[in-house]
Amino acid sequence: MGKDERLNTTGERPGQPGDPCVMVIFGASGDLTKRKLIPALYNLAKGDLLSREFAVVGVARSGMTIEAFRQKLSQEIRDFATAQVEAGLWEWLVQRLYYVPGDVGDPRTYQELRTLLAKVDKEHGTRGNYLYYLATSPSFFSEIVRQLGEAGLAREEDGRWRRVIIEKPFGRDLDSARSLNREISQTLTEGQIYRIDHYLGKETVQNILVFRFANGIFEPIWNRRYIDHVQITVAESVGVEKRGGYFDEAGTLRDMVPNHIFQLITLTAMEPPISFEANAVRDEQAKILHAIHALTPEEVLTHTVRGQYGEGSIGGERVPAYRAEPNVPPASNTETFVALKLSVDNWRWADVPFYLRTGKRTAKRVTEIAIQFKRAPLILFRKTPVEHLTPNRLVLHIQPDEGISLSFGAKVPGPLVRLGTVHMAFQYEDYFGTTPSTGYERLLYDCMTGDATLFQRADMVEAGWSVVAPLLDVWKALPPRSFPNYPAGSWGPKEADELLERDGRQWRRIEK
Ligand code: BG6
Repeated sequence: MGKDERLNTTGERPGQPGDPCVMVIFGASGDLTKRKLIPALYNLAKGDLLSREFAVVGVARSGMTIEAFRQKLSQEIRDFATAQVEAGLWEWLVQRLYYVPGDVGDPRTYQELRTLLAKVDKEHGTRGNYLYYLATSPSFFSEIVRQLGEAGLAREEDGRWRRVIIEKPFGRDLDSARSLNREISQTLTEGQIYRIDHYLGKETVQNILVFRFANGIFEPIWNRRYIDHVQITVAESVGVEKRGGYFDEAGTLRDMVPNHIFQLITLTAMEPPISFEANAVRDEQAKILHAIHALTPEEVLTHTVRGQYGEGSIGGERVPAYRAEPNVPPASNTETFVALKLSVDNWRWADVPFYLRTGKRTAKRVTEIAIQFKRAPLILFRKTPVEHLTPNRLVLHIQPDEGISLSFGAKVPGPLVRLGTVHMAFQYEDYFGTTPSTGYERLLYDCMTGDATLFQRADMVEAGWSVVAPLLDVWKALPPRSFPNYPAGSWGPKEADELLERDGRQWRRIEK
């Protein structure tokens, strides 16, 4: 692979490959494996970030041979690779793919797994380091960890490591998250547990910290003296696709808020960590979660909005109502849209509202964080119409058009003094081109090198659920009466607009 010759886009030498290890994927016949995990491993191999002492063992119920598993993934990589697949490199990876059919509740599965792992260790020099990836239904997480423990496959000794990546959702409320944490901690130490949130695999999300802390000019104004409010939008034009069964049990609040949206808030609001060591960063994130004011039942009524889409049209195409989606009950009261007003009760953010909105079947797919600065004292312009001048706004565009933009007032050329709002924009693509990525590369690599910075600690997950607990309680006690209350292809129910209008503010208009 010519490691030494390869340079990345910034002209630096690439990092060291991950540790020798076997990645064991539970739920290996599912979507995540073919869509994300295998293409991500391929990309890591291509970037020389995968150890040459590496192998994958898939575990799933389907009765497949190792050969059939290899063939299946060789077919699927064609559809899901993010870049051209080089035959030689793929063949290298294929020779390292293994499979164990079995039920994850059956101890015999783990005995077979143990035998195979010993053999793979010998053949590929993987040194007894195992990365378990739990890509199954969440109902099996605790059982798999327990069985791994009983089979002696979770014990770290003689310098070899055993790490477990756990997919979301991690619990469905505070109690279930606490129980899951308690159960897995019977077998694993916190240092072995990597709770994944794929938002932290996004370059633009990781860049929030770089933007804030590697530049001298933003941090001094990143506080209540200069910032009027923060708006976070995570809008998706897709509906629930084939996931109606899961989604109808979860709803948008559980699906998006305590995980993805809270990652965006904590990175935006946290204090500078004392280092980029995992716990230093996560301590600061956890402090923000603890500082988010817990809504009282009355505040839940006034500070939160829920919605469900009815039929409508997106990009000129008619799309069905949520209640008409496959596997969704026709009278479902599950929310597909949430808007919230939260406050972070600390010295930096007192009186700066954080408005959040997230929903499915919105007019456009867009994730962004908009920092709205306070209006300048415009007294100097008393003879000029300035009411329509937008105050300075910095927008971190997370996806799909990754970049950062700043709006400010400028003089419109001409003999009269007229002001207009203009934009300064940076686009990732212009500087760095596009890097083919599934978004899982960094997270897998970090786990292989033992860096847990981008993974959730037990206390963070629980703190996130604590914030949404009052909403879950009040919403359950008071079922919605007006669903569906926004048409597919809009920006959510009108109550979401009113949430800001009551404070004399507006959502940023996102152009179609
Ligand atoms: C998942 C949610 O975690 O994130 C989905 O379960 C959602 O409902 C998805 O669509 C959004 O991820 P992304 O990367 O497309 O913004």
